[in-house]
Amino acid sequence: MKSIIVVDDDPTAGKILVRMLRTDYRVQAFTCSRRALAHFMEHGADIIITDLKMPEMDGMELLGRVKEINSETIVFIVTGYASVDGAVRAMKMGAHDYLAKPFNPDDVLVKLTRAIREQRLEKQCSSYRQREDRSAGDSSIITGNEQMLATMAMARKAARTDSNILILGETGVGKELLVKKIHQWSPRRDNLLVPINCSAVAGGIMESELFGHEKGAFTGADKTRIGYFEMADKGTLFLDEIGTTDIRFQVNLLRALQERMIYRVGSPRPIRINVRLVAAANQDLAEEVRAGHFRQDLFYRLSVVTITIPPLRERMDDVGLLADHFLRKYHHINPSVRGVSTEGYGMLQDYGYPGNIRELENIIERAMIIETTDTLRPESLLIPRQERSGRETTSNPGSSAAGPGDIREMEKKHIIEVLAACNGKKIEAARRLGINKTTLWRKMKRYGI
Ligand SMILES: Nc1ncnc2c1ncn2[C@@H]1O[C@H](COP(=O)(O)OP(=O)(O)OP(=O)(O)O)[C@@H](O)[C@H]1O
Ligand SMILES: [Mg+2]
Repeated sequence: MKSIIVVDDDPTAGKILVRMLRTDYRVQAFTCSRRALAHFMEHGADIIITDLKMPEMDGMELLGRVKEINSETIVFIVTGYASVDGAVRAMKMGAHDYLAKPFNPDDVLVKLTRAIREQRLEKQCSSYRQREDRSAGDSSIITGNEQMLATMAMARKAARTDSNILILGETGVGKELLVKKIHQWSPRRDNLLVPINCSAVAGGIMESELFGHEKGAFTGADKTRIGYFEMADKGTLFLDEIGTTDIRFQVNLLRALQERMIYRVGSPRPIRINVRLVAAANQDLAEEVRAGHFRQDLFYRLSVVTITIPPLRERMDDVGLLADHFLRKYHHINPSVRGVSTEGYGMLQDYGYPGNIRELENIIERAMIIETTDTLRPESLLIPRQERSGRETTSNPGSSAAGPGDIREMEKKHIIEVLAACNGKKIEAARRLGINKTTLWRKMKRYGI
């Protein structure tokens, strides 16, 4: 329950507000502003409702002090006819809104609810913005590969439109990185990019997470909550690992995209949405459609523009560029390292990278930690033996001779080996494989490990 402090030197005004609000809020009334401030300093409060004209410390001063202590506190100013100027001045100083005397219960309750909702939205948005800022510095896509450059040119073109985009690719190929770029290239760049990893959200609560819910919509819904669709308004919504969602959710998502409207769970009121959707999945999404695990109509709707990012083993010409890039990125770990030795490069060129760029990045980072000389040598580039392709084995995953079946077999074997080496500890194994925990879990399920 949110807490409110009411401050008015007229005790009846305080009593009226307490009676109006006490079923929905924890309310404390004070006739003395100093007392109220002391209480606030000790216990805090979500909202302060204060009169302007009071002896000793007036409402304006109280507002200033409260905002100094906690700028997020919502402050309402109580006004009569005489103090409209004062209310305007107070709003300029950071008061949220005013409440007119005599109080109208509906007006008061609506204003408070709205203020709380706006505050929550603002908080959510600023935490997303911070997350985005932190990762923004490191978002250049490094490539010299013809196919990748063509893919990026297409992504850049598509970014300017509002079409849905589907990004396909194996784990670690840079799907999320490309989504960030698409958002930056789009006219929506000044609004939010809201990323959701569908595999990390439990099936049953996908709807309420995405569409929001009204208070009381289900057990545990003690407050109204806006969903990611509303949060991403005028921006981009990124649904990662869309292939892991259940059919019921897929139906609801399709309807939302078709109608460009959503309904919060438990609400009959449609809300118009203005969101560009980017979805990502592993390459086998089309296979999931064929197998009946993913709705075809949704697949068509999502894949207006489809961008497939090739695995690293199909663009080995990028390995050197990327290795140098990560060498610079992790320079701070070991500043004496100047490059990769010739044998080191040879080894890097000779590997299949089931974990793709993320795996290469991990190999370089780890090597920077271990290396004691000024070049990364094979001794520090710990490349899993079994996965090494080319010279000593006949089947080279980089060549077209290896079909997808071979690669899956290799991947399965590799995962089993790494798991065994980590005594079955999945977090450790995922780290060594250069894939995330959910991806590992999904792969183990698929391969029946
Ligand atoms: N072309 C590239 N240039 C530089 N860094 C890259 C490139 N591609 C990927 N990376 C880096 O590799 C790592 C993995 O990329 P990302 O998280 O985008 O992969 P993903 O395809 O989303 O993987 P997953 O399916 O496992 O979620 C990130 O640290 C990313 O910055
Ligand atoms: Mg990803």
